[in-house]
Amino acid sequence: MAFDHHRMNGEIDREARRKGRWRFGYHIMAPSGWINDPNGLVQYKGMYHVFFQHYPNGVEWGPMHWGHVASRDLVNWKHYPIALTPGDACDRDGCFSGSAIEKEGEVCLIYTGHRYADAAKKSSDQVQCLAASRDGINFEKSPDNPIIGTHPKEGSGDFRDPKVWRRGDHFYLIAGTCKDHIGKVVLYRSSNLKNWTYLGVLAQSDGKLGYMWECPDFFALGGKHILMISPQGIEPDGDLYQNLHQTGYFVGNFDYEHMQFDYGDFTELDNGHDFYAAQSFQDNSGRRIVIGWMDMWDSPMPEQAEGWAGALTLPRELHLSENGKIRMTPVPELTQLRKRELVHESELLISENRSFHRLNEELMELEMLFDLKKSDANQFGIKLRCGETEETVIQYETASRVLTLDRSKGGAGPGGTRRTKLPEHDTLKFRIYLDRSSVEIFVNDGEKVMTSRIYPREQNHGVQLFARGGGAQVQNLRSWSL
Ligand code: FRU
Repeated sequence: MAFDHHRMNGEIDREARRKGRWRFGYHIMAPSGWINDPNGLVQYKGMYHVFFQHYPNGVEWGPMHWGHVASRDLVNWKHYPIALTPGDACDRDGCFSGSAIEKEGEVCLIYTGHRYADAAKKSSDQVQCLAASRDGINFEKSPDNPIIGTHPKEGSGDFRDPKVWRRGDHFYLIAGTCKDHIGKVVLYRSSNLKNWTYLGVLAQSDGKLGYMWECPDFFALGGKHILMISPQGIEPDGDLYQNLHQTGYFVGNFDYEHMQFDYGDFTELDNGHDFYAAQSFQDNSGRRIVIGWMDMWDSPMPEQAEGWAGALTLPRELHLSENGKIRMTPVPELTQLRKRELVHESELLISENRSFHRLNEELMELEMLFDLKKSDANQFGIKLRCGETEETVIQYETASRVLTLDRSKGGAGPGGTRRTKLPEHDTLKFRIYLDRSSVEIFVNDGEKVMTSRIYPREQNHGVQLFARGGGAQVQNLRSWSL
């Protein structure tokens, strides 16, 4: 009855897969099956490698493998065979998230070996493991696994998502854990990636920042140190923390001598519905690039009907602004995606609904840029994938400076709005990437970013600019089909 077993795990319907209306045009997704977190981001022998949490045999989360894509340019991705498969003693129930680092010509993956600690699968006994490759494609697990076989006393069996970096002669590793409902990040040091010395807790929740911290990342940016985490269990607070879980960061100073990290407040990195478990890496040109999982735990995923589930965001470069906040900008390589210029207008007064283009297939994969000048309109906005029955609305309210992303009429799927207040500016610069089931909005060179999945139906292709209660002055409007 193997067949029935597969069905229960969400068997892939090949017919549906071929027809998939929400399959991405240019984002990283699996050929079929489930994906979540980006893992092991690295540039190795010139190639960019992206791995991801993957269950190839069904459209729901299952025993985790590491799927693999690679690219020369961060734009055109090729699929490679699965890099890590669970089932050994140290990773019996899954190869969970982790990172990659180059050492002596090899690319090394450091990941969490997941084992359930009880028959009911309620608790975990997680350890850290190593695998390596000389060609970047075929990976061998280390005979020394697990390389960290017990969690520190400040943590628990929820002990996962190692992020490794090098400084001088040493490697450092952080992992997420928790104890007594307090999320934490713990720190280790090694000289060979195999023997690790525990150094202590790098940071932890003050009681309000979540019961578990997943997917920690730690790096220098703009003269400061950034701790990026994906906490579980922060309570919603006005427009903040509206998603089930968040990804955000602390900015601080790190002292390697005393292993002391002094840091400020927690800030969400993205204000849309679907951004989680982000990971960063530094490429050979020194850029700090981040990619996130473009979904949210426990959120409906209508694409499962097409035989797949989940995708990754566009690669984004991180910058630290003078106000101590991170900006995320799409990497410049993405301009290679531009196929045909659809609109180019240097000045435009929007005083009522204005269809930017007639309903057209080309408007399903789109990049759009424009500057919004100060104007007398109360509201200015743009509707994407609109038709008679559906629309995804991005709206800016002049008085409150609040930007809203409203997908409640976006199509199939979970709906809901997200709001974020923009800083005061005379001109707001928008850059929008639309793919077949996602929208990513970058405002003012990434000062604010909103990322959400949308599930429009095929007949709704319209794009429309609108203003209410006055006119809105738009400049440098450009758009390309991708
Ligand atoms: C984050 C996460 C990680 C874990 C992985 C399992 O989304 O829960 O903490 O390693 O997903 O797939």
